[in-house]
Amino acid sequence: MQQLSLPLNLPNTSANEVTWFQHILDVLGVSRGAGWCDKFGLSLRQWLMQHGHTPIKTLSLFSGGGGLDIAFHDAGFDIVQMVEVEAKYVQTLRQNSMPGKWLENSKAICVDIREYFPHTELEVDFIIGGPPCQSFSAAGRRAAGVSGTKDARGILFQEYVRLLKTLKPKGFLFENVYGITGARNGKDWQKIQNAFKEAGYTIYFRTWGNDKWSLGTNKVMLSANDLNQHLFIAVWKFFEEKLLEVTGMADLVQLSGYYQYNPRISGVMTFHQELKVNLFWRVVQCVVRGIGVAIQLSAQGLASLWGVEAENVFSYLQDLRSMGYEVRNHNTNPQIPKGEYLIPYAFPTLTPRSVQLRKNLGTTDE
Ligand SMILES: C[S@@+](CC[C@H](N)C(=O)[O-])C[C@H]1O[C@@H](n2cnc3c(N)ncnc32)[C@H](O)[C@@H]1O
Repeated sequence: MQQLSLPLNLPNTSANEVTWFQHILDVLGVSRGAGWCDKFGLSLRQWLMQHGHTPIKTLSLFSGGGGLDIAFHDAGFDIVQMVEVEAKYVQTLRQNSMPGKWLENSKAICVDIREYFPHTELEVDFIIGGPPCQSFSAAGRRAAGVSGTKDARGILFQEYVRLLKTLKPKGFLFENVYGITGARNGKDWQKIQNAFKEAGYTIYFRTWGNDKWSLGTNKVMLSANDLNQHLFIAVWKFFEEKLLEVTGMADLVQLSGYYQYNPRISGVMTFHQELKVNLFWRVVQCVVRGIGVAIQLSAQGLASLWGVEAENVFSYLQDLRSMGYEVRNHNTNPQIPKGEYLIPYAFPTLTPRSVQLRKNLGTTDE
């Protein structure tokens, strides 16, 4: 089973060129309006069935909310079982497996994968799944680097390999964050690939989301004539809108280099000499420059980087959150040790749909 290589070059294509993708949309009779992704999925599945495609029996591991499963379902796969440890996610999976729903007839199993031993009669042609990525992504990044396979979650791929050996599907898709390829200087990725090869599979891998697009400039100046939190957010949001317009895909999270590790833009914030700048805005200035960003640090650590008192750091962090900055601690992300904080991005990235917006920093961890 070989990986298809499609000319995925959408961002570099001007709107009036007919791309292979536009051609597919035309064949399916889908136009790019509101909710087009869902219509695309439904039509694709329908088209495949009408053209005699036999669905590929698939087992889903680490199913989460079932996003990957729905995409595979639409592409002609039948998800027969979904394995997920978190009961609240399994509730969603079960809802979506009801008659008439997207994953109709699929069975959601709430179990730790380490205790999942499929029935001997289970036959599948394909396995999909993305084990937890925190061990490889910047969320798990500390001053010492990503924890990779040194972390208990980072070795869950071994369970994936165990199930490949037991069920012997024709192929599988192992999805993870870009950081997995570089964790501990690439040693982890080598180890994971070797384990898959040893199970009898040929591995093809592709990093996605790193398409070459250009802003046409490497310098963008955003300016405002007042130090006002709302103005600060508005300026960034306006910039983000423009980015989307120019690149068709880039948002501030992408530009921050959270997953790619190499930020595509870096910020500099300067103040007009007549402005009265308080310590909070000095902190914002540091954050925009990336100081104390994308690294887990204690209040003391942040205070010394920002040149402020440690006892005030928590309130600065709360103010940053209210300005749309993502700030994590043990309460928002339990894998972060108590007393440490992580500001993943140098720019305000929260939107009304952000999961982080509904989380709470709690009270000071000290
Ligand atoms: C990266 S998410 C998967 C997201 C999913 N592909 C989707 O589209 O929604 C990884 C999932 O693995 C689950 N998980 C973590 N440890 C697990 C374990 N030991 N056994 C089973 N599932 C586990 C997590 O609860 C999480 O939902």
